[in-house]
Amino acid sequence: MEVKTSLLDNMIGVGDMVLIEPLSEDTFIENLKKRFDHNEIYTYIGSVVISMNPYKSLPIYTAEKVEEYRNRNFYELSPHVYALADEAYRSLREQDKDQCILITGESGAGKTEASKFVMSYVAAVCGKGQEVNKVKEQLLQSNPVLEAFGNAKTVRNDNSSRFGKYMDIEFDFKGDPLGGVISNYLLEKSRVVKQPRGERNFHIFYQLLSGASDDTLKKLKLDRDFSKYNYLSLDSATVNGLDDAASFRTVRNAMQIVGFMEDEVQSILELVAAVLKLGNIEFKPESRCNGYDESRVKDKNDLKEMCELLGIEQSVLERAFSFRTVEAKMEKMSTTLNVAQAYYARDALAKNLYSRLFSWLVNRINESIKAQTKSRKKVMGVLDIYGFEIFEDNSFEQFIINYCNEKLQQIFIELTLREEQEEYVREGIEWTNIEYFNNAIICDLIENNKNGILAMLDEECLRPGTVTDETFLDKLNTVCAEHQHFESRQSKNSKFLTDHSLPHNCFRIQHYAGKVLYRVEGFVDKNNDLLYRDLSQAMYKANHSLIKILFPEGNPAKVNLKRPPTAGFQFKASVGTLMKNLLSKNPNYIRCIKPNDKKAAHIFTDSLVCHQVRYLGLMENVRVRRAGYAFRQAYEPCLERYKMLCKQTWPHWKGPARGGVEVLLTDLQVPAEEFAYGRSKIFIRNPRTLFFLEEKRRQCLEDLATLIQKIYRGWKSRTHFLLLKKSQVVVAAWYRRFAQQKKYQNIRSSALVFQSFIRGWKARKLLRELKHKKRCEKAVSTISAYWHGTQARWELRRLKEEARNKHAVSVIWAAWLGTKVRREYRKFFRANAGKKIYDFTIQRIMQKYFLGLKKMPSMSPVDKSWPARPYGFLDGTHQELRRIFHLWRCKKYRSQFTEEKKATYEEKLAASELFKDKKALYPSSVGQPFKGDYVEMTKNPKYQKLNSFVEDKVLVADVVSKINRANGKGAPRIFLLTKKSLVLADQKTGQVKASVPLPDLSSVSVSTQNDGFFALKLKEGSTSAAKGDFLLSSDRLIEIITKLHCIGATSADRNKINIDISDEFLVQFKQDKVCVKFIQGTPKNGNGVACKRKNNRLLEVSVPSP
Ligand SMILES: Nc1ncnc2c1ncn2[C@@H]1O[C@H](COP(=O)(O)OP(=O)(O)O)[C@@H](O)[C@H]1O
Ligand SMILES: [Mg+2]
Repeated sequence: MEVKTSLLDNMIGVGDMVLIEPLSEDTFIENLKKRFDHNEIYTYIGSVVISMNPYKSLPIYTAEKVEEYRNRNFYELSPHVYALADEAYRSLREQDKDQCILITGESGAGKTEASKFVMSYVAAVCGKGQEVNKVKEQLLQSNPVLEAFGNAKTVRNDNSSRFGKYMDIEFDFKGDPLGGVISNYLLEKSRVVKQPRGERNFHIFYQLLSGASDDTLKKLKLDRDFSKYNYLSLDSATVNGLDDAASFRTVRNAMQIVGFMEDEVQSILELVAAVLKLGNIEFKPESRCNGYDESRVKDKNDLKEMCELLGIEQSVLERAFSFRTVEAKMEKMSTTLNVAQAYYARDALAKNLYSRLFSWLVNRINESIKAQTKSRKKVMGVLDIYGFEIFEDNSFEQFIINYCNEKLQQIFIELTLREEQEEYVREGIEWTNIEYFNNAIICDLIENNKNGILAMLDEECLRPGTVTDETFLDKLNTVCAEHQHFESRQSKNSKFLTDHSLPHNCFRIQHYAGKVLYRVEGFVDKNNDLLYRDLSQAMYKANHSLIKILFPEGNPAKVNLKRPPTAGFQFKASVGTLMKNLLSKNPNYIRCIKPNDKKAAHIFTDSLVCHQVRYLGLMENVRVRRAGYAFRQAYEPCLERYKMLCKQTWPHWKGPARGGVEVLLTDLQVPAEEFAYGRSKIFIRNPRTLFFLEEKRRQCLEDLATLIQKIYRGWKSRTHFLLLKKSQVVVAAWYRRFAQQKKYQNIRSSALVFQSFIRGWKARKLLRELKHKKRCEKAVSTISAYWHGTQARWELRRLKEEARNKHAVSVIWAAWLGTKVRREYRKFFRANAGKKIYDFTIQRIMQKYFLGLKKMPSMSPVDKSWPARPYGFLDGTHQELRRIFHLWRCKKYRSQFTEEKKATYEEKLAASELFKDKKALYPSSVGQPFKGDYVEMTKNPKYQKLNSFVEDKVLVADVVSKINRANGKGAPRIFLLTKKSLVLADQKTGQVKASVPLPDLSSVSVSTQNDGFFALKLKEGSTSAAKGDFLLSSDRLIEIITKLHCIGATSADRNKINIDISDEFLVQFKQDKVCVKFIQGTPKNGNGVACKRKNNRLLEVSVPSP
């Protein structure tokens, strides 16, 4: 159920000033103060919200707060700007009424902040979605941009808006924002060139210099130091709690979100920089021959840089600061400017540049945020205009601002009263007129087309001849002298001639909010707002897209000799449009009040607040509101709130709410004049009555609370008791069940034990019986088996006995027959049978022996195995058979030989015959095949010549060592043996050293030892013998000698060569015969054979012992 609350709950003071009792200025301010001290900064006067500036951030603008106020009735929660915003937004969405929110109050009272809260609230509660969010974001982000360019620090407010702003937010039928339109009013442009003490220029200048990167500043030809610029007053260049650099980033970001292009931003910054540069241009006088002074630019550097920034030709601008062209009646005249005029021109240019840039910015933002559809829109306007201003020194700007505030006050008066009246009519309640101060008369003083101050000013400005501020004042003194609200020392009626508070050059207006003294100085100029045409033309010529747009009147093609409308005229017109616009909408008021002049939290200056309360006409507002009936409320919420005060309406009233309220009030005996029944609302005349109702309600609520507590406690105890009772039953039931279960389980298990015992006993008995029966059966079969066995054995014994007897009989019979036969044939057997048995036996043995030889031993001739002899008497046969078999298999083996192999074997045989058991070297040669050629004669190209020398087939070719006869050392020689001769040749060259025909060879001598020495002995007297015998040595001695021997054996025409095998033989060396002696022993040089010449007669060869 939704909780119904009311503004009246937990009130501090009264939330709605209408309820104040008694109503007086003191109680009014007392109430504001009390609420302010409790951080309750909002208070209502009916539907108007009074807002006190807390000068500190309060936790009342959170998302939760937004949710709290969303879709709630205006009086349901404590006063808040959100309640007003919600009310406005809902009546816009649901009742299709265009709304405007008018925020008024003096500078620093919190108008701009309030307007931002309203906008952010509406943004938070209205539709969502990508497109809608973008629109919202753009609308919200337009604020920082405009604030940077249009706000400045003043003595009253660190972030004072120096322009008026009215923003229309447009919604579609669903209440989703579509876009917006911003209008700006009269930027205080004089601030660009001069700021009052303790104030600053517009924020953007400081933000740019502190926040821009070095690079950007360089591009803009700027210096970070504020003191370098004449237009930036130095005494309050920095503001506490304001971070200009951070703000610059915020502004850049906001510009991006709103949709400014990079080059646009750059152009804007260039213009800002140009204004700063412009301020630095100074002039000096230069005398001319005609006696006039002409101004000249002092230091041209700043001028040059500014011209570079804006793309202006320097000479054009320079000239525009020295000369002025006056056009009259198709004639052009050039007049010189003196230094003062040059400064005036410079400042006028700076002000115009800046204010036009600002207007351009507003238009550019409008272009971005304008609604994209043409369909019908609902509009919520938020007006945040500069507040009423009273300074020490008030000029044209204050006059204009205060005029604007007068107009707003008028709207306020008109609309509130009209609204009030309309409500009474709507509700059918009689209306009695109320007196209040209507400021229409002041508005008239200012804006009257005939003799209003603004009209007079325009008249003066347009008048030919010398026009000064003084002539203007004179004019006022005559025209407005009679006006009640106009005061001037020189006025025609001389009322104020002795009033010394009124200086001569001033006039005073009694505004609704107080008297304000205006100094006339500058009025004419400011109203004229003149910019010399030469300057606007110079600007138009600039090669800078933005500047060109800002000075369209500089276009020579569009020269317009008509004066542009004056500032006052323009303002009046735009205020007029604004008023018309506001009047067409449903107004919602936020009236801002500042509690002190120090911008400090917690300080409440009574006099200051009192002054504001007075000029804002708040007391009158309350009075008007209370004139008829102080409080009104729809019947339903009223009945809902007070129904407990009467038995008939409590707790439920069945009929219509109005009837209920009637019954209620009658029952409470409220005097009839204290209230009136409207169509949908009850109107209560006095707050007293309301408080009486409230008090009654409070008491009743206490009683009701006690009753509720009583009933609740009773109910709670009873339910607790019932719960206990119920639980007890449940517990008991469970316990009983559990106990019975346990008992049953016991009985059951006992029965089972019994049962099992009985069954066991029965089973055992049965088993016993069965076992007995089985044993009996087994005994029977055993007994019968034994019996049958015994019987069978008896039978077997009997049968065996019988068979034995039978066999014995036949054996005895056979033995007797044998004996009988042997006795008969013994005489024949001895003569014949012996030889026959012997022959037969021998034959059988031989047969068996030969059959046994069927499996032969291997066919290898070297296999010596032979089966063992089976019978001793066959020994001879067995050996013979072995020999025959061996011969046979040798024959078989030989028959496989080729001729070549046969020759080889023959040579081996010959070697064996020659050396076996005669020379120790022989056994090692048996396994070596006789290859013959070991030096590969034919293949080796080295021996080609040698090859051609020997004609026959070479039988042996080997390297031998020829023993030197003198010292017994060996030298390698090739040894060749053919059928006819032997040849010795040099091993390296193959050159023949000696060739001996075989017939010249007589014998060969070798030792019995294991050495390779052999001596070739030649026949005495033969041709070869001249050199003497050869003593050679070769490892293949056996092969060489055997081959030599075999040649001798095969050739029939020659004698065999003798082979002497002896350890001592003689060798013929030329003339001497030398004895070669072989001895066994260990030679000193290793294992080899050593040969040594011992003396003339002896050559000793020592052979290692085997
Ligand atoms: N509701 C508020 N909560 C906190 N501070 C506020 C509030 N309203 C105003 N202020 C403070 O007062 C200053 C001036 O408010 P501002 O809205 O700029 O005044 P105005 O627009 O009326 O001249 C703000 O800068 C802010 O510091
Ligand atoms: Mg402001």
